[in-house]
Amino acid sequence: MLIKRRNFLVALALSSSLVVTGITGCGGGNGESTTADGAKTLVMATSADYPPYEFFETERGEGKPVGFDVDIATYITEELGYELEIQDMDFNGIIPALQAGRADFAMAGMTPTPEREENVDFSSIYYEAKNTIVAKAGSGFKTYEDLAGKTVGVQLGSIQEQEAREKAEEIGDIALEPRNKISELIQEMKAGRIDAAIVEDTVAAGYIANNPDLEFTTLDAGAEASGSAIAFPKDSELREDFEAVLEEMKENGTLESLIKKWFEDYYAEQAGASE
Ligand code: ARG
Repeated sequence: MLIKRRNFLVALALSSSLVVTGITGCGGGNGESTTADGAKTLVMATSADYPPYEFFETERGEGKPVGFDVDIATYITEELGYELEIQDMDFNGIIPALQAGRADFAMAGMTPTPEREENVDFSSIYYEAKNTIVAKAGSGFKTYEDLAGKTVGVQLGSIQEQEAREKAEEIGDIALEPRNKISELIQEMKAGRIDAAIVEDTVAAGYIANNPDLEFTTLDAGAEASGSAIAFPKDSELREDFEAVLEEMKENGTLESLIKKWFEDYYAEQAGASE
C-alpha cells in the first residue's frame, strides 16, 4: 500500500513536470510561475514540426511534443531543479519570444549564426546537421544549380531560407516559397505545388522514411558547419547552468544515448513502419 502510494506520487510529480500550453495560453516567462513544491517553471519555446528533434505524435498536433530536444530539455531542467513547460510556436517566432521574455530558453534544432547572436545567446552545439534538397523521387536535384527555374520551399526564418536566398541571388531564376512549417513544405511538394525544399539531413531522413515518393540529396556544406544549440535571452544567467549540464551529458554518455534513441532507433522504426 505504502509503495503503491509512493508510486502514485512519483507518477503525479512526473506528469506535472511537463506542461504544454499553446501560444495563446501564455505561461509566465522568466521563471515567474512556481508550483506547489516550490520549483520554478522554465518555459521552453519550440517549433514542433521537426521530427526527431521535436514533434507531435499525432498528425493533428494534440498532446505534448516529444523528441531529442524535449529529452535534453527535460534532463537539464530536472538536473537544475526546474519544472518544464513547452510552448509550441512557428520557428520564426522563437527569437522574438525570447527577446520579449515570453520564454526562458529555446530548443528547436536551432543553429547559432552571427545574426541570431546579436539578439540571443547560445549554448555550445549539441548535434550537427547538413542541408539537403528534398524533392519528388526521381527528380535528381543534386546542387542549387539544378534548382534553376524551380520553385523551392524553405522554412520561414531558418538558415535554410537564408542560404537559399543567397543561392537564388547568385544563380537567379529560383523562386523561393517560404512557409511556417516543415510539414507544409512536404505536403506542397507531394501535391506538386513546389518542386523542392531545403531541409536538414537529420530531419529529411525521417520525412523520407514516411514518404517513399520523396527523395533527398545532401548538399555540399562548404566551409560552413551547422549544428543545433540551445538559445537564451541575451545575458540570461541560465546559459551557464544549462551549459554545465550539457557538458555533463556529453561526458557521461547521456547525449550519446539520446542520439542513438532519436537518430538511429527512431529512424529504424519509421523506416520499418512505412514498408
Ligand atoms: N537549423 C535550422 C535553423 O536553425 C532549422 C531549424 C528548424 N527548426 C524547427 N524546429 N523547425 O535555422
